[in-house]
Order: sequence, then C-alpha cells, then structure tokens
Amino acid sequence: MLSEQMKEVLNNQINKEIYSAYLYMSMSAHSTFAGLNGFANWFMVQYQEEMTHAMKIYKYINDQGEKVKLMAITQPPTDFDSPLDMFEKTLKHEKFVTKSINELVDLSIKENDHATNIFLQWFVTEQIEEESNDNEIIAKLKLVGEGGNGLFMIDKELAQRVFTSS
Ligand code: FEO
Repeated sequence: MLSEQMKEVLNNQINKEIYSAYLYMSMSAHSTFAGLNGFANWFMVQYQEEMTHAMKIYKYINDQGEKVKLMAITQPPTDFDSPLDMFEKTLKHEKFVTKSINELVDLSIKENDHATNIFLQWFVTEQIEEESNDNEIIAKLKLVGEGGNGLFMIDKELAQRVFTSS
C-alpha cells in the first residue's frame, strides 16, 4: 500500500526517468548527425537504461495495487555545443535526478514505508554509478580538448558500450 503522496511522487519519478530517456535520445540523435557514432551509441544505451528505470517504478506501483498515471513529457533540447557540453548537461541532469531520488527516500523514511525504502535503495546505488560514469567521461574530454585524435579515441571507446538490463 502506498500513501497518496508517495503514489504521486513515484508517478512523477516515472516522468523524470522517461524525460531522462528522451534527453539522452536527443543527445544520441545530435551525435549521429555530428558523425560521432560512438557517442551516439553511448547515449542510446543510456536511453535504454532510463526506460528500464521508468519501468521498474511502473511495475512497483502496479505491484502495490495502485494505478500508474502517465503525464506529458517535456521536449528536451535538440542542439548541443560539443560532446563536453552534452556530458556536462548529462551530469547536471543526473544530479537533479539524484536529488529527486533522495527526496523520495526521505519521504519513505518519514512515512515508515519500509517496502518503498528498500525498493529505492537500488536507485540510490545506480545514481552513484551514473554520476561517476559522467565525471569520468568529462575528465577525459577535458584532457583531450575539443577535437582531433583524442575525440576520435573517446568516440571509439564509447562505441563499445552495450545495454545490459539489471
Ligand atoms: Fe534514471 Fe539516469 O537516472
């Protein structure tokens, strides 16, 4: 059983996760158009991950005998200055998602909602990994600068990423 407030914030979190998917799909589209197929692959895998995050919450609401309420998804930006710009925006967005997850955890503690608290632990751990991945790629991009061989090498590395559902 979920409280009305918990139901509402979990539904909102589905929307945030699908917006995240949409944002990274937009970054993937931009990368493809810029000839950066490795970056395009990385962001498309990220899109898939975000959809699994949304579906985890969708299933959890169902499992608690409640109804999922879907809302409009905001249009994401479609143009980016550079690969570094995309990853800085990714990190900024992930920090926003981390804050949102932390607020959900706070509410679960306040309501003594142990089931939701346990459910959210996976997301807490996932956010650490997501921010860490973004920080690592940002550091590499700063190291190599905006163009040339270094960017080509990073593009090749990001082409290796494969989607694994967890
Ligand atoms: Fe679903 Fe990137 O957090």
